Amino acid sequence: MAIAPPAIWSPQWAAQRSALQHAAFTEPLLQAAFADGSPLPPGYGVAMDERLVELPWVHASGCRGRVLDAGSALNHAEVLAHVAPTVADLHIVTLEPEAHAFTSARISYVFADLRELPYKDDLFDTVVSVSTLEHVGMDNQRYGVEGLQGTTPDHELALALTELRRVTRPGGTLLITVPYGRPDDLGWFRVFDRAAVERIVDVVAPAEATTTIYRYDIEGWQVSDPDAAADAVYRDHEADPHPADFAPNARAVACLRLTV
Ligand SMILES: C[S@@+](CC[C@H](N)C(=O)[O-])C[C@H]1O[C@@H](n2cnc3c(N)ncnc32)[C@H](O)[C@@H]1O
Repeated sequence: MAIAPPAIWSPQWAAQRSALQHAAFTEPLLQAAFADGSPLPPGYGVAMDERLVELPWVHASGCRGRVLDAGSALNHAEVLAHVAPTVADLHIVTLEPEAHAFTSARISYVFADLRELPYKDDLFDTVVSVSTLEHVGMDNQRYGVEGLQGTTPDHELALALTELRRVTRPGGTLLITVPYGRPDDLGWFRVFDRAAVERIVDVVAPAEATTTIYRYDIEGWQVSDPDAAADAVYRDHEADPHPADFAPNARAVACLRLTV
């Protein structure tokens, strides 16, 4: 019988997550798989959250030059240890300060709304936005901000995407990830289906677009496709405190590489 992984968020789970994250950033075969969307090793990331796919995918997808992290998903010491040396300079924009700021590593922090970015046009070579756009136009109280919902989430998302594109230089790249699968609205974020992902591409109107879908099941994370992952359900922590597949959060993500 297979041995159950350590309980999600336990110290043992966190240690396993750290080791796997390090391998995903540093092992050439894993980085190559993330770079070209080829299959991950069997059993990759059992009981692990979507960041174990999204962040190595960002690293493998050409996070170069002057980089904007829109939403602050890179703002972790063990992620920055890998990302910071590969970029010319890194700017993080999010709504509110977080527990850690790595200013001694010369990372710039700006607290602003993605829908109204305080940067000039064409400033960045790469704009990264990891699991953030699903919060735009939703209830952001848990991030310390109220009253930012605006009109409809789709309209607010289009405003943010237009801004992200505006600050990306011609020939530059947007690296965007969002939770994918059966569409859902959990109040503070939503899950995107195929049509919603296609709307992201339509709004950005890139010269080149590649979308890679990754899906989670009891065997871990694996490359999938928009149809095969269409029924992926985000784990509801209250309704499903002990999921049989050990999924911490998302059960699929869409990773978009958009060259403008
Ligand atoms: C990527 S997550 C949390 C980041 C956290 N450091 C992590 O790694 O999980 C979502 C982030 O998006 C930010 N966010 C949501 N809506 C935003 C908006 N309209 N403008 C800027 N940031 C936004 C939230 O403040 C939150 O920090």
